[in-house]
Amino acid sequence: MKAFISRSRSSSNATSQLRRAFTTTSNKARVQFTSAAKSNKKLSIISAAALTTGSLIYLSSLNTPILNEAKIKKMQRIVILEDDEDDEEEEEDDDEDEHERFERQRQLNIQNKPHLSQVFSLSDFEAIAKAVLPKGAWGYYSTGSDDEVSLRENHYAYGRVFFRPRCLVDVDSVSIEHEMMGANFAAPFYITAFAGSPMAHPDAERNLQQAAGKENISHMIPFQLSYSADEYHNSLLPGQQNFQQLHFYTQEQFDKAGEFFKNLETSRPNVKAVFINVDLATIGNREKDSKIRAALDPASNDELAVFTTSDAKYFTMTWKHFEELKKLTNLPIVLKGVLNRYDVLKAAELGFAGAVISNHGGRQLDFAMPPLEILIESKKLLKEKNLDANFDIFVDGGIRRGSDIIKALCLGAAGVGLGRPFLYAMSGYGEPGVQKAIQILKSEMVRDMKLLGVTSISELNEDMVDATSLKYKGIQSSDMLYNYNYTEMPPPKFKS
Ligand SMILES: Cc1cc2nc3c(=O)[nH]c(=O)nc-3n(C[C@H](O)[C@H](O)[C@H](O)COP(=O)(O)O)c2cc1C
Repeated sequence: MKAFISRSRSSSNATSQLRRAFTTTSNKARVQFTSAAKSNKKLSIISAAALTTGSLIYLSSLNTPILNEAKIKKMQRIVILEDDEDDEEEEEDDDEDEHERFERQRQLNIQNKPHLSQVFSLSDFEAIAKAVLPKGAWGYYSTGSDDEVSLRENHYAYGRVFFRPRCLVDVDSVSIEHEMMGANFAAPFYITAFAGSPMAHPDAERNLQQAAGKENISHMIPFQLSYSADEYHNSLLPGQQNFQQLHFYTQEQFDKAGEFFKNLETSRPNVKAVFINVDLATIGNREKDSKIRAALDPASNDELAVFTTSDAKYFTMTWKHFEELKKLTNLPIVLKGVLNRYDVLKAAELGFAGAVISNHGGRQLDFAMPPLEILIESKKLLKEKNLDANFDIFVDGGIRRGSDIIKALCLGAAGVGLGRPFLYAMSGYGEPGVQKAIQILKSEMVRDMKLLGVTSISELNEDMVDATSLKYKGIQSSDMLYNYNYTEMPPPKFKS
């Protein structure tokens, strides 16, 4: 084991010395640091470096050293970093603009990114994305609305549901294949539609499309695709099947819906259903995103303006509009963004194919209930009205593990969507990252289904879970991985 110890009295020197030593050491080395760095800001720079190399790192200030003399003596190799003539330069470093420092570190993070083999979960992808993405892009992706209560509760809700596994079942062969909207897929989850992919990776949605095709899962094509629909559809893999997302900005666009559907029906046989937003009466207050952008130099922020939605105006939709849309196509229409069981019921009564219970990943109305809770209420109501059989309920928001997907399916979901995890996988690794994220979810599902004692999706049912704590918000097993990645809202900045 190798230890780096800085003897510098200046926290900035110590930080810089350790950072230099750290970045030049072998990625495989197990590194321990004790540092004079006092401010959290400086410690977090080193933490970020540790994250990108996958090394283990211990930090402490000299006042509270974690390595006592005895421990230090046991180290195979100790490198003492004395103050050197760089001191003056390092002091100047202190004056470096916070954003420049962040950017310098980000470039280092990109160079030292962990090998894909070091990624074990979707949370790992998120941690890496946070370290390699420009601040503005991270803000845009990770933000929820207002106080982000719905954003967090979407995820925490899954932590309040527990399994009731069965034993001694022959689970040698487990299949997670699943039919959604009349099409067969290799798994019951899909990459949901989201704007802003080019900020994550230059190949943008091409990464999602190709990875989804190779893994035979559905990619919901965003209406706000960053390149032409023809290019998208021309590069599909043989047999690839998709969902299409749609929203309307203007009356004129709404009036052309018939043409849009006709084009799908005649030229896009891969599209199996159209998911139309019902959650865009206006745009939620994405406060964290706004704060992060406000703190950035507007001149360096042009790229983001394209995706910034605060000024976006949508066409006001009512049930009447949806009934008109339904007459224009034979494609199944699914309402995306339903948040009340009575709206689920109404959609079923009107003969729509399904609904996605979604609060847009916590980006619209804050304090909208977690989709998992609304799913249970909606299933119950549909069953009471005998409308359960021909109406599919999907959920999205906060799903990060195969076990989350299994829980949603046990509680009656016809399938689930994931957004940010695929954005984050693409941010670090492009298409191979997205493909690995899909594979992680698939293998988590297969493993957990074996442990649950089931061999196919159709066997999952509500008796396999205990959801009695679901509605008790605030009670959840502390999800360390989620909390580690969660970015708190930055307070306003004082002028220096
Ligand atoms: C950055 C970002 C952009 C999004 N853009 C859209 C969009 O253009 N249309 C849409 O219907 N939903 C959009 N969504 C919502 C997603 O479709 C989905 O509801 C949400 O991401 C699910 O939550 P999750 O990210 O926790 O998985 C967006 C979500 C994010 C994070």
